Amino acid sequence: MKKDTVLSGMQPSGKLHLGNLVGALKNWVRLQDEYECFYFLADWHALTTGYTNPETIKESSKDLLINFIAAGLDPDKSTIFIQSMVPQHAELHLLLSMITPLGWLERVPTFKEKQEELVGKDISTYGFLGYPLLQTADIIIYRAKYVPVGIDQVPHLEISREIARRFNHIYKDFFPEPEALLTEFPKVPGVDGRKMSKSYDNAIYLSDSPDIVEQKIKTMMTDPARKRRKDRGEPELSPVYHLHKIFSSNSEIEHVANGCRSAEIGCLDCKAILIKNLFTYLEPLWQKRNLLIDKPDELYEIAYVGSQKAIKKAEETLDVVRELMGLR
Ligand code: TRP
Repeated sequence: MKKDTVLSGMQPSGKLHLGNLVGALKNWVRLQDEYECFYFLADWHALTTGYTNPETIKESSKDLLINFIAAGLDPDKSTIFIQSMVPQHAELHLLLSMITPLGWLERVPTFKEKQEELVGKDISTYGFLGYPLLQTADIIIYRAKYVPVGIDQVPHLEISREIARRFNHIYKDFFPEPEALLTEFPKVPGVDGRKMSKSYDNAIYLSDSPDIVEQKIKTMMTDPARKRRKDRGEPELSPVYHLHKIFSSNSEIEHVANGCRSAEIGCLDCKAILIKNLFTYLEPLWQKRNLLIDKPDELYEIAYVGSQKAIKKAEETLDVVRELMGLR
């Protein structure tokens, strides 16, 4: 039986952190066995807001591809590629732009929000307005059925569905309407207790060395009530405890919760257990990162082979689209 197609992408626009790993990448890894998966680096999308920093895009692309593989995405199971190496996405983006009403793009909530958020960056550009349309092309060019994304991407998926529907209405029923695949994940807190995010400067990065990870946990915020070792605490108020809930065993979680409430263990004891577990969790990723980090040829090979596979499937779709739009 033919497997349904899953597709998702990430922008190479900075370093990946533990939240990205737990909330997205690990889920992508799991989906590999059940679906035909396409995973890619959305480097054109990174240009829509980062066009003045090509160096960042270049460095982040390398690091992101390393993280894809190190996290467990497998080029033998999934098609792993770089958007700009599959120019067919650009052609479909152009063709879809012919049928996309401007108003649809203007009313995507992220369009206004991002413009207000990114003060000092001029993103009143044609490219940025077209962000969701390019994303639509990314998805429907593989006739993907499911798109694993965060809740913030749901408005983009909505417009993708509308555009697919409009194409089908004007020409022929051809594109499936893609659906967001929303999976609930524990929220990974940053070292200050807020949601882990690169813009809060509270993240544990996948490129951090073990020393740095250890240091970040050791200096991490805990329940402020525990000023001294003998003060009792409430684990729920400590972001360290929330990390335990993700990375520790049930008996360890119980041990640190009881120890915190009774002041039988100190915050450093509690953190030592977390550090041990986090190291176990990250060790395979660190090892693979180290194997790949100085191997640009190997990385290029992975991207090249994946992109060739992607091109093949994308061309099949484009052939039909060109035909339906009178270009043959
Ligand atoms: N916009 C997505 C993000 O910032 C990245 C992306 C680009 C994407 N094209 C996509 C995600 C297609 C899913 C499908 O996270």
